[in-house]
Amino acid sequence: MSTGLILGIESSCDETAAAVVQRGSRTLSSVVASQIATHARYGGVVPELASREHLRAIVPVVRAALAQANVALADLDAIAVTAGPGLAGALLVGITYAKALAFAQGLPLIAVNHIEGHIHAVLLHERESSSFPTPPDQAAEADESALALVVSGGHTHLFHAQPRETGWSYKLVGRTLDDAAGEAYDKVAKLLGFGYPGGPWIDALARFGDPDAVHFAFALMKTKLHMVGKIPRTKGARTSPIADLDPHFLFSFSGIKTAVLRYVELNNLRPAALLRAKSIPASSRPPRSKDEALALCSQQVLDLIASFQHAVVGDLMKKSFAAAESLGARRILVTGGVAANSELRARFAAESARRRLQVAFPTLALSTDNAAMIAAAAWPRLLSGTFADTSLSADPTMALGR
Ligand code: KG4
Ligand code: ZN
Repeated sequence: MSTGLILGIESSCDETAAAVVQRGSRTLSSVVASQIATHARYGGVVPELASREHLRAIVPVVRAALAQANVALADLDAIAVTAGPGLAGALLVGITYAKALAFAQGLPLIAVNHIEGHIHAVLLHERESSSFPTPPDQAAEADESALALVVSGGHTHLFHAQPRETGWSYKLVGRTLDDAAGEAYDKVAKLLGFGYPGGPWIDALARFGDPDAVHFAFALMKTKLHMVGKIPRTKGARTSPIADLDPHFLFSFSGIKTAVLRYVELNNLRPAALLRAKSIPASSRPPRSKDEALALCSQQVLDLIASFQHAVVGDLMKKSFAAAESLGARRILVTGGVAANSELRARFAAESARRRLQVAFPTLALSTDNAAMIAAAAWPRLLSGTFADTSLSADPTMALGR
């Protein structure tokens, strides 16, 4: 009987990651080499630099994952790799290496959708923290259907996720029409003078401000006639046409960034970038620590940060709970980089308790990009024998669900 050991490889954006996961429920190792230092000075991910860094990191990262798991290539049952969505050149590094390893070892290759990987980060964490000693052999375990919110720097999607005999099925129920929520965090942080990625800065500073100080409104997205048949013009995954989705479950995060910018200009605010020039004249760098950032921000800037976060989290909550209710889902899975946010976790937990729904998050390490989630998502495919062949290529706009 196979031991169910899968090596996962992830290189879709700015993290080179490899992990060994057993039967989709036990992480033997999870190694993540972050490129944050490379991209930080540009305030965002530079695709060419990302590919170059993946090339440098992929071999040592995979070796480290095998060594930490105390597993040899010959012990593996399959190799799983992110096939999309993501940056084409970045994806290709992981795919090419995974193909070569699978071919050389005579192992099956499993192609995984990055967004599905994020959903499995929650399921993996649930299984690891559950008291069942023996992991289930069927993906269609006790997991009932769930509303999944995948919210990261590249995606803001709502799915109806349902366990089936042969794995999970996903139906897209909502999405952003423009920026992802994490992108809004990154852009607002950048305009206020903080480093990349912006989410952790805003998360840390928001608790010092008044969330009701500035009112940011999210209007209901209207499905206008001219949108019929169109798909959103975002860089993320291709999805159903907008008109097929309920407007109550559509997001838009590009406006709030502009609203923050306008507020800064109108109020002549001195955010960290401007203050920096005054208070630390010898330096042209963003603040290095949360304490330094806090000292640089006026109370009005802290109030702005808190209000921004409160509005974004409120909008994510409102639409997620409405979608769960309309689908009759009793469970909500929240995942992706923004799921690391402390206010988001606290408010989703409180609202779920109030509505008697279950809510689950991955661990903080599994919230952002990693390869354990890719290996976990591949487990049902190994069981059902759904493998990729050597023609596998990168699919930068790979869709998930119908
Ligand atoms: O999942 P991820 O690592 O990569 C993508 O697939 O995009 O997510 C990265 C995103 C970034 O936009 C980052 O600012 C955001 O997640 N993020 C956060 C927090 N930690 C990371 N946003 C809000 N609060 C956080 N604590
Ligand atoms: Zn991601």
